[in-house]
Amino acid sequence: MTMKLILDLDTGIDDALALAYALASPEAELIGVTCTYGNVLVEDSVRNTLAILELFGRTDVPVFAGPGHASAQSSFEVQEISAFIHGKNGIGEVEIPDAQREAEQLSAVDFLVESVERFGEELVIVPTGPSTTIAAAIEASNVFRENANIVMMGGALTVPGNVNGWSEANVYQDPEAADKVFRQLRNVTMIGLDVTLQTLLTTKETAEWSKLGTVGGNFLADITNYYINAYKTTSPHLGGCGLHDPLAVAVAINPGLVDTLGINMKVDTQEPTRGRTIGDETRLNDPDKHAAVAVRVDTAAFLEQFMNRLSVLAQSTPVV
Ligand code: BDR
Ligand code: CA
Repeated sequence: MTMKLILDLDTGIDDALALAYALASPEAELIGVTCTYGNVLVEDSVRNTLAILELFGRTDVPVFAGPGHASAQSSFEVQEISAFIHGKNGIGEVEIPDAQREAEQLSAVDFLVESVERFGEELVIVPTGPSTTIAAAIEASNVFRENANIVMMGGALTVPGNVNGWSEANVYQDPEAADKVFRQLRNVTMIGLDVTLQTLLTTKETAEWSKLGTVGGNFLADITNYYINAYKTTSPHLGGCGLHDPLAVAVAINPGLVDTLGINMKVDTQEPTRGRTIGDETRLNDPDKHAAVAVRVDTAAFLEQFMNRLSVLAQSTPVV
């Protein structure tokens, strides 16, 4: 049976790769994309998502705009480091045409709630940006709170953060929302830096996409090369770029790619450790563990699937 998938993206470069992975996966039916802020503003996330879907010929996938940052509202500004890693336009300054269509009228929150009501656990939601929209859906609906099945990219349990010593970027941008996700949902898989920094891509792989000579191949190669270049400055010790968001989608489709630790998680919302993802000491002895934190990844299997799937997808687009 085909599983249903919704992605909640702050469409920067690895979000774009995650979207491509979902489109390239026959096991999953992508029933919609909700757009949040983070790497870019919500409107740019919508713009990029619609444009990428059109580039890959998937204008059938509906796109929904999420709310802005819960506390900052319209005053949210993209952080300098996000613009450095993903480019000001979110997709490595690569220019692709605007889509011919617009986002749906329905809000992202209503779409998420209606989808969980309709599909229950058959549906997996993959947030790859701040948890603001997911937290709003929890507030809006008990059915969502009790049944949502989430595989999220965010957090760091066994390794330091990437914004500071303890906080990962998605969690850092809305710690209260991520805390709500961990405390209130029953079924959350956390794909954090513990595993995503073990899945790296280099220019050796992106050259395979360029060689295809297609619109899709060039797009994937160009945005990822920009991202790899940024990583050379921010994390020179890695020798490649982290495939954070695509790994979350891959695990949603194939949970066997990672080993997880069952644990009840929380996010610190107070200084000095605001934004830290850590076990909740008040639920330490609760036998029901509501989160599964990925602590090991089958890097070779994931990278093989990633390259195979995205190459097939890129090959299906017009020759340049
Ligand atoms: C996460 O932060 C964003 O910059 C990436 O898209 C990814 O979702 C990694 O910390
Ligand atoms: Ca992201």
